[in-house]
Amino acid sequence: MSTVVNTSEAPTGLGFGARFTASMVLSRWTPGDGWSALEVVPHRPLELSPAAMALHYGQAIFEGLKAFPRADGSLALFRPHANAERFNHSAERLAMPALPVETFVDACARLVRADASEVPTGPGQSLYLRPFMIAVEPSLGVRPAQEYLFAVIGSPVDHFFADGFEAIDVWCPSDQIRAAPGGTGAAKCAGNYAGGLAAKSLAVAQGCHEVLWLDAREHRFVEELGAMNFFGVTREPSGAPLLVTPPLSGTILAGNTRNTLIQIAADLGVRTEQRHVDIAELTTGDVRFVEAFACGTAASVVPIGSVTTADGRYVLGDGRPGELSTRLREELAAIQYGERPDARNWIHTV
Ligand SMILES: Cc1ncc(COP(=O)(O)O)c(C=O)c1O
Repeated sequence: MSTVVNTSEAPTGLGFGARFTASMVLSRWTPGDGWSALEVVPHRPLELSPAAMALHYGQAIFEGLKAFPRADGSLALFRPHANAERFNHSAERLAMPALPVETFVDACARLVRADASEVPTGPGQSLYLRPFMIAVEPSLGVRPAQEYLFAVIGSPVDHFFADGFEAIDVWCPSDQIRAAPGGTGAAKCAGNYAGGLAAKSLAVAQGCHEVLWLDAREHRFVEELGAMNFFGVTREPSGAPLLVTPPLSGTILAGNTRNTLIQIAADLGVRTEQRHVDIAELTTGDVRFVEAFACGTAASVVPIGSVTTADGRYVLGDGRPGELSTRLREELAAIQYGERPDARNWIHTV
């Protein structure tokens, strides 16, 4: 396909994650004192020992959430408590200290308040927040570090589809995996992403946009994309649409957007089946998927137009954004930007 989804290399507009606001929020952890009081300071390079353990053994976790400019003029975070809880899940998996949920949410809110004038207000724009925690103790011992840094930085972003709502093409590697049972797949840790970059480059080299990962054991069941969860749309016996998404079996990230869309779909009368999806269902049409899409905080809902495997390229539906994908994307945006009531208490005004 010719249209390239918006990336940080986009020559015009804000792009994604290419520029940063004036401030950042910091806190440090030591075993004796726990977390220090949050500080709002200018966004600037960090001073780090070259022996900081995050650089060597990868104790680095992060989150991604957005602050939205709302129809009533307010600024609001979307479901920040869910990110805070997932952050602690990641911390536990990587033997890092937990951060109180309210401290996480407060840190995000403080950054948005400090840099409120930099939250972009154009159609589909938002402030992407990147909270992260890294091990900063200088030591080459292979063990959990004893000093950590928590920080939140902000990046004004365009809508992912600033150039138009288009379907993406995905590629399934047959000789690489993202996560195995018992590994760190359900944690949002830096190493998971590093391990996926070579496959992402191979995907792009053959004209696709993203990797669609398959399971580690059989290379057969759909897991997720590099930074998004997967949904397929099939039909109920009545002909009504039915959403299908892989279960949270421990090897994929429990996406907030995934959880949000399941609830929005239920409100629209659309059921979601959480079950394993055999790649053959997408490539041989054993179960006819009429649409498929990926979802995540950065891009909200992204239709998938085709799947490429070692056997060839398979077009899903008519290869264009489907009806339900489009509807879910619109419903989600309407809640986030304050054009629909917040019936589920998802909006956290700062
Ligand atoms: C591997 C992976 N899966 C799924 C998601 C979607 O998660 P969320 O909807 O919480 O952004 C992300 C993005 O954070 C991700 O990195």
